[in-house]
Amino acid sequence: MRKEVFGRTPDGEIVELYTLTNTKGMEVRLTNYGGIVVSLRVPDRQGQFDDVVLGFDRLEDYLKGHPYFGAIIGRYANRIAGGRFVLNGVSYQLTLNEGQNHLHGGQKGFDKVVWKARPVRSARGVGVRLSYVSRDGEEGYPGNLSVTVTYLLTEENELRIEYTATTDRDTIVNLTHHSYFNLAGQGRRDILDHLLQINAHYFTPIDANLIPTGEIRFVRGTPFDFTQLTPIGARIEEPDEQLRFGRGYDHNWVLAGPPGALRLAARVVEPNSGRVLEVWTTEPGLQFYSGNFLDGTITGKEGRVYRHRYGFCLEPQHFPDSPNKPHFPSVILRKGARYQTTTVYKFSVAP
Ligand code: GLA
Repeated sequence: MRKEVFGRTPDGEIVELYTLTNTKGMEVRLTNYGGIVVSLRVPDRQGQFDDVVLGFDRLEDYLKGHPYFGAIIGRYANRIAGGRFVLNGVSYQLTLNEGQNHLHGGQKGFDKVVWKARPVRSARGVGVRLSYVSRDGEEGYPGNLSVTVTYLLTEENELRIEYTATTDRDTIVNLTHHSYFNLAGQGRRDILDHLLQINAHYFTPIDANLIPTGEIRFVRGTPFDFTQLTPIGARIEEPDEQLRFGRGYDHNWVLAGPPGALRLAARVVEPNSGRVLEVWTTEPGLQFYSGNFLDGTITGKEGRVYRHRYGFCLEPQHFPDSPNKPHFPSVILRKGARYQTTTVYKFSVAP
C-alpha cells in the first residue's frame, strides 16, 4: 500500500491518493476525495494488465465536476422525485440538482466531500477505511449520519466495499459506488459488445424524468431481459418506451434472492480481452446505466475521449425514489440502528 498527495481542494484541504496491490498484480488507486476509485488495473486472458475504469489523472479534473466517475454516492444514491419525502409525519425537502429531482445526494453529495482515511489490513486483504459525518440538515436530510466505507483489495482479485452508517435521528440512507467500467480498457471503445447477465426477473420501469412509476415489471420478452448473457448493444436501439426514457439502459433491476445475503447480482464478459466482472451484493436492487450521457465532451485519463456509451455502471442499491414508494424495500435508518451493506466487484478471465 502506497499513500501520496493527490492535491488540494479550493479550501486548502489535502487530498490523498492510495495505491493498493495484491500478489496477483491487481492494482486499485483510490482517493479520499469522494471516495473515488481513480484506476483499477486487471489482467486479460493473456495476462496483460489494463485500466478498466473511467476517470482522470489529476484531482483538478475531478474538482471541475464530472458524472460521478468512480465515486461513493450518498446519502441517497439515485433519484428522489421532487426531492421530497415524509418521515414520521414530517415532510422534508432535499436540494434539487437535476431538474425537479434530487440525484445522488444533492449539490454536494458524498462524491464531493473529503473523507477521513486510514489504511486497514485484514485476513481478506489490504484497504482503506473512509469515514465521514454528514451533519443534520446537510442537503436537507435529517440526523447526524456517521458513515464508513471500507475498500478492500483481496487476493481473489476482488474489490470489496463495506458500508456502515448510524444516525442520531431517524433518516433515510442508500449508499452505492459509481465506477464506469470498460473491460476492454478505459477510453478505447464503447461497451456495446460486452455481454451482460443480471440475476433479476423484474425491473422498475421509469417515467420521462427517470423516476420509477412504482410498477414492478417482468423482464421476459422485453429488452430488459438479461437473465442470459446478452450483448449490451443487442437491443439498446429498439423502439421501446423504457429505452427511450432512459436514452438506453438507466434502470433499476429487482435482484433475485434474499436481500441481506451476499449473492451474485451480475456478470459481465468482454469477449476480446476475456475479462470478466462479477458483482456480488447484499442490496435488493441494481442500477444498470449504459453511459448514455457520455458524449465525447470529457477527456479522461491518458488523454482518452469518453464518447457515447464508453463505460457502464452497475450500482447495487435500494430502489430509486423508495421514500415515496411504500411497497419498495425500506430505506429508513432508525436512530440507534446500524446500516450495513456489502458489494464485491470480482475480476477474472473467461477461458
Ligand atoms: C446514474 C443515473 C444516471 C446518470 C448517472 C450519472 O447512474 O442513473 O441517470 O445520472 O448516474 O450521469
